[in-house]
Amino acid sequence: MVLQLEQVSKTYVGHSTAVHAVSDVSIELGAGDFVAVQGPSGCGKSTVLLMAGGLLQPDSGNVLIGGTNPYGLPPDARASFRSISIGFVFQQFHLVPYLNVLENVLSPGLAGTNSPEHVRQRAEHLIEHFRLAHRQDHLPGELSSGERQRTALARALLNSPQLLLADEPTGNLDRENTDAVLGYLKEFAESGGTVLLVTHDDRAVPFAKRTVHLRDGRTTNHMNPGFSAASG
Ligand SMILES: Nc1ncnc2c1ncn2[C@@H]1O[C@H](COP(=O)(O)OP(=O)(O)OP(=O)(O)O)[C@@H](O)[C@H]1O
Ligand SMILES: [Mg+2]
Repeated sequence: MVLQLEQVSKTYVGHSTAVHAVSDVSIELGAGDFVAVQGPSGCGKSTVLLMAGGLLQPDSGNVLIGGTNPYGLPPDARASFRSISIGFVFQQFHLVPYLNVLENVLSPGLAGTNSPEHVRQRAEHLIEHFRLAHRQDHLPGELSSGERQRTALARALLNSPQLLLADEPTGNLDRENTDAVLGYLKEFAESGGTVLLVTHDDRAVPFAKRTVHLRDGRTTNHMNPGFSAASG
């Protein structure tokens, strides 16, 4: 399994009240899986993704990425494990405003044993693939929303992670760009990658192999009826 969430729970303890954001959620993803987690605002989607990404330790339950518990690693080792194994795409892009497209794509830096030359070639390949070559030297502020999100996607894939986690990656996009980004995620899964997407956007459903519904921090799983096993 590429990602296993085993009965993970998270409660945020605020100033006055405790919020039970996620309760006993279990999700398993293998190579080539593309799972969409859907649910209304506040149901715990981002919390699930942060826990899956090694960024937020669950109060109980286990997270295993390729069999490794990231929360069992010391902070430095966890950070490098994350940068090798996981690509993260945020809703608000989180591009560095004073770096151009190429520099943003390169910003995760070297991971593992890749040489600088290899990483540079990989960045240029991704920029080409995501139709950004003509914008390579532009700053994020000079890009359209779709171009920004494609830059964020390229950056997430720089180190060829097995697992791609995406939080509302189409939240700011029009129909055409939404389809393009979801198409890229599907293509990544079809090439053997693993995608966990969280969204409230129904347009994501036909792209995913499986949809997990989240409500008040709890899941109900079903197969996506619009997706035939033969097509993926
Ligand atoms: N840092 C925090 N401290 C306290 N409560 C939080 C914190 N982060 C999230 N919450 C609460 O936990 C619950 C789940 O939040 P989460 O961000 O996971 O929801 P979400 O499904 O991603 O929502 P949205 O669709 O609006 O992004 C919400 O009720 C939210 O108010
Ligand atoms: Mg969220």
